Amino acid sequence: MKKKIIFVLILASTHFNLHNLLIDDVGKIAIIGTGYVGLVTGAGLAEFGNTVICADIEKKKIEMLQRGEIPIYEPGLKEIVDKNVAALRLSFTFDVAQAIKQADVIFIAVGTPMQEDGGADLSYVQGVVNNIAQHINGFKVICTKSTVPIGTGALIRNLLEGQGIDPASFAIVSNPEFLREGTAVSDFINPDRIVIGAESEIALKIMQKIYEPLFKQKIKNVLTNVTTSETIKYASNAFLAVKLSYINEIANLCDATGADVKTVAHAMGLDKRISPLFLQPGPGFGGSCFPKDSQALLYMAQQKNLMLPVVQASLTTNEQQKKIPAQKLLGLFNNDINGKIIAILGLAFKANTDDVRSSPALATIKELQKKGAYIKAYDPVATENMRLQLPNIEYCSTLECAVTEADAMIIMTEWDEFKSMNLEQVAGQMRSKILVDARNILNISELKRLGFIFDNIGQSYLKN
Ligand code: UGA
Repeated sequence: MKKKIIFVLILASTHFNLHNLLIDDVGKIAIIGTGYVGLVTGAGLAEFGNTVICADIEKKKIEMLQRGEIPIYEPGLKEIVDKNVAALRLSFTFDVAQAIKQADVIFIAVGTPMQEDGGADLSYVQGVVNNIAQHINGFKVICTKSTVPIGTGALIRNLLEGQGIDPASFAIVSNPEFLREGTAVSDFINPDRIVIGAESEIALKIMQKIYEPLFKQKIKNVLTNVTTSETIKYASNAFLAVKLSYINEIANLCDATGADVKTVAHAMGLDKRISPLFLQPGPGFGGSCFPKDSQALLYMAQQKNLMLPVVQASLTTNEQQKKIPAQKLLGLFNNDINGKIIAILGLAFKANTDDVRSSPALATIKELQKKGAYIKAYDPVATENMRLQLPNIEYCSTLECAVTEADAMIIMTEWDEFKSMNLEQVAGQMRSKILVDARNILNISELKRLGFIFDNIGQSYLKN
């Protein structure tokens, strides 16, 4: 353990005022769990100048990382991993116990999957805590990084103390991440804000040192207690989910009235209180965060005998929204798509990721299959992940293969490749020029010029 931290602890035990304390060196950081959150956090913290060891029980994943291979698709990640490995600031191990022993600060970045009742499954977090209990060998800051239910910090303390660990030998911190898949590296390096909930001033100082480059850049920060920090994460994600369901509802209203949702959203966004971001309607939100975190928030409220009807409504609306692309396509075929070949462009839940968890494409494909359609799907990077969930559709390795001889297509993901596709060429390859643009990315005058029959989300009035 580093001398600096011992020094700080002695001061803390004498109730010294720590406000002006400087911590020169936080020692080693261990990140337990090398999924999206853990790997980006590890590489990002190394980029900030820290010495980081990323640990995971999945031996295969660690071996890949040790060979310089990145197990997930995330733009820019390989570059900062390579750079920091070369600078000896970043390393990987499957010996979690060793990582815990070596570290002064432990980030918990393991998954918290959704249980059937909507609550978060904390068994992986508990596993890490048990491991810490077995191998703690000095003062440790224990920080939750992945999204954990409100109260997890307190639970970790209870679990450790319950195993006879000295309460003064660790400090709990919550430091939620706000990174988005696809832009995770830049979100980490240049965040809108840093949130740190710490139960002691020493822990707070150590965290501030870890994030020193961001504090120096005067990135906005919120320093608070652990429970508030845990709540900020859920409140933020659920709010964004509500915003998306709201604009999707308005898009559907626009389709019913003949209004234009892009213009409506643009005008709404000019109001600073609303902001133009996250007002893009589509086939419903997916991914590993919004659906799971909104459910978990509802579950946590229920445990306290509280209802969160707004959060509940955003999920209900989202389930409805996921049905819209298939409904729109059926509308263009007088409800009969039996035997039709439908090209699905985009399988990932959004662009620039290979993640298909809760992807709206899943719901759409299943619905079309139920109506007797034959599916040819193409995604620039998410095919292999979708194949695991839906083995019984045809996967194409190019856009051209997917649209050739197709009776119709649906754009499910806003990949740049689809935005810039040569519509004239595609029109010549398809059997009939029918499409649903569930991301509103295609040029409508071009579609009209080429004689496409089409529909979209919230701009249906343009189809005539
Ligand atoms: C989300 C949050 O944005 C992050 O801040 C947070 O850290 C992360 O969850 C998490 O908790 O780990 P992510 O799920 O990666 O990030 O993706 P987003 O970019 O937020 O998109 C979520 C969904 O909303 C996608 O299905 C996307 O297509 C949809 N979306 C987003 C829209 O339909 N319209 C928009 O205008 C924006």
